[in-house]
Amino acid sequence: MPDIDSIVARAEAEFAAAADAAALENAKARYLGKAGELTALLKQLGAAAPEERKRQGAAINDAKARIEAALEARRAGLAEARLNSRLAQEALDVTLPGRGSCRGGLHPITRAWQRVETIFRSIGFEVADGPEIENDWYNFTALNNPENHPARSMQDTFYVDLKDGNGKDGGLPLLLRTHTSPMQVRYARMWAQRHRGASPMPAIKVIAPGRTYRVDSDATHSPMFHQVEGLWIDEDVSFADLKGVYVDFLRRFFESDELQVRFRPSYFPFTEPSAEIDLQFASGPLEGRWLELSGAGQVHPQVVRNFGLDPEKYIGFAFGSGLERLTMLRYGIDDLRLFFDGDLRFLRQFN
Ligand code: DAH
Repeated sequence: MPDIDSIVARAEAEFAAAADAAALENAKARYLGKAGELTALLKQLGAAAPEERKRQGAAINDAKARIEAALEARRAGLAEARLNSRLAQEALDVTLPGRGSCRGGLHPITRAWQRVETIFRSIGFEVADGPEIENDWYNFTALNNPENHPARSMQDTFYVDLKDGNGKDGGLPLLLRTHTSPMQVRYARMWAQRHRGASPMPAIKVIAPGRTYRVDSDATHSPMFHQVEGLWIDEDVSFADLKGVYVDFLRRFFESDELQVRFRPSYFPFTEPSAEIDLQFASGPLEGRWLELSGAGQVHPQVVRNFGLDPEKYIGFAFGSGLERLTMLRYGIDDLRLFFDGDLRFLRQFN
């Protein structure tokens, strides 16, 4: 009978030395497996005398229990080591600063746009919008622009040529609208249609803000810009009403009663009389300089006719203002290109 204690001691030493689960299972087989040392001892027991068999059997069972305990302990130790190394490898560094989400803000033109809408809504104007790709009739003809007016030239206007060669709308050339004025015609015709037969027809009171396009680019002009059109048509809306409404709008927009506003006689085919409205910069690098804000006037009788209304009965004013211009004056900005550069150092100042 070999020394059982020394078998247990060797098993314990081998288990302790096993570097991983596979090595440990191999070591286990050498002691507890079918051909293992303890198993061999058990097989020999049958040949021993009964007393001896009992004594040796108890000793072998005791050894087996100790070896199994050592095996379990090492299995647990290896599993823990494996877990610890995975935890170390997959560790999250919770102290790493997050990327952070920064709050977006509204573009200054959007702010101006919203201000204009709020002010005009408060005095009973509706807000309308319409197509940026417009046809020649709404953009020019209906607004009384003669056939050979220079505004119609390729140099001033982006004409649209659709891929299929069908760059026309029912035979009419298509273009990117050069102003928001076609919305006067679209809205008034819709209104006249809707209230046909009503006498008197309810007043047309609308603004139409939106994008407009021209072949133009410098510090105060950009190929894409924004305008807001205004139209008030009723039985007795006068040029004095235009002045009252517009100056009141400016006072509220700029939050000042001290504005320097100038109505200058001008010409537009769709108004008679016509004016341009200028405002003086009150601050910023252009302080003291006048900037043209708006064209305006009493809507021309021919245009009222194109609205589908009788110019003997309906009369009123219209205006078209540059939203970039309003914004430049409000914040004292001297170059309109800043609005389109997307430079955050500029844009952040408004939020
Ligand atoms: N549409 C003109 C332009 O873009 C501005 C304008 C002038 C609009 C007179 C009007 C108006 O409504 O009555 O230059």
